[in-house]
Amino acid sequence: MTDPDLLQLQSESVASIAKADAATLEALRVGLLGKAGQITALLKELGSMEPEARKVRGAEVNELKAVVTSALEARKAVLDETALSLKLQAERIDISAPPRPEGLGCIHPISRTMEEIAAIFGAMGFTIKDGPDIEDDWYNFSALNIPAHHPARAMMDTFYLQANPGVRPPVLRTHTSPVQIRTLLKEPPPIRIIVPGRTFRADHDATHSPMFHQTEGLVIGKGITLAHLKGCLIDFLRAFFDNPDLPVRFRASYFPFTEPSMEVDIGWNRKTGEIGKGTDWLEILGSGMVHPNVLANCGIDPREYQGFAFGVGIERITMLKHGIADLRLFYESDVRWLRHYGFSALAPAMLHEGI
Ligand code: PHE
Repeated sequence: MTDPDLLQLQSESVASIAKADAATLEALRVGLLGKAGQITALLKELGSMEPEARKVRGAEVNELKAVVTSALEARKAVLDETALSLKLQAERIDISAPPRPEGLGCIHPISRTMEEIAAIFGAMGFTIKDGPDIEDDWYNFSALNIPAHHPARAMMDTFYLQANPGVRPPVLRTHTSPVQIRTLLKEPPPIRIIVPGRTFRADHDATHSPMFHQTEGLVIGKGITLAHLKGCLIDFLRAFFDNPDLPVRFRASYFPFTEPSMEVDIGWNRKTGEIGKGTDWLEILGSGMVHPNVLANCGIDPREYQGFAFGVGIERITMLKHGIADLRLFYESDVRWLRHYGFSALAPAMLHEGI
């Protein structure tokens, strides 16, 4: 570019553009390149020039236009970026906001006991199974060697559901034992499972609730004996009550689905409620060797396979372990009670380390 006027226009424009704010920049663009802009006017003049002169002049004016255009673009990019970062700063989300206050929620004692049971039996190689809350009569009773009209059915105050005509009505399962049947039908031995879950009986007082929880246990294999049952349950109870010397007693009893059957008692002091002290006994769970009829009902040859089963009330052992007097409080969702008896979510069950 040789024309001093063009050179001057270029240097003045570029200098103004370099320090313009957004509004000034737009005014400069219009003033230079708009319809009535200075450079537009120069371009228009070319039309009336002789071809030779137009060629020389045209190159110069176009060079000026290119320089000014790229200066405008560069400044616009700078201004846009500044505007964006200001906006980002203004709209920033403060991710350092404090978390919800601690101690609002905690683990319910029932869940905690289930976790502990899973940890203890998990360390002994048991896996966890579950089954439906609404059961067929066959799974809840008949397959467990409790035939229709057998007096043993009266042991359980059952909730029956509406029946289709001609069939036995479905029931809210009265124990977790039907999952023994479901597992025996599905899985070949050896079997080693626990079944924590909800159970239902028409009972309501300080130690009974129409909905409560049990954990079933089932071990099936070749040559499983009463000694295995005893060892397993003694280990469990001593780990759960965190007392390696806890006295445990096996007392002959009756369940239709086990033979022989045994109630298991632990030592305690009736007066003070202390577990493991004193000379009294407290019944804590039901157990026994799986009845041959139960195995046969599930297509397993009782001469080849034997095993044991047990059922433990979760509320009951939780009440004993933590000194909770009234079972109904478990379900009232009183936050003050939950805070007192609940457990920190950050303190998972570690009892298996003690086995
Ligand atoms: N199902 C029995 C009950 O609810 C407990 C039990 C389970 C007893 C397994 C023996 C074997 O009372």
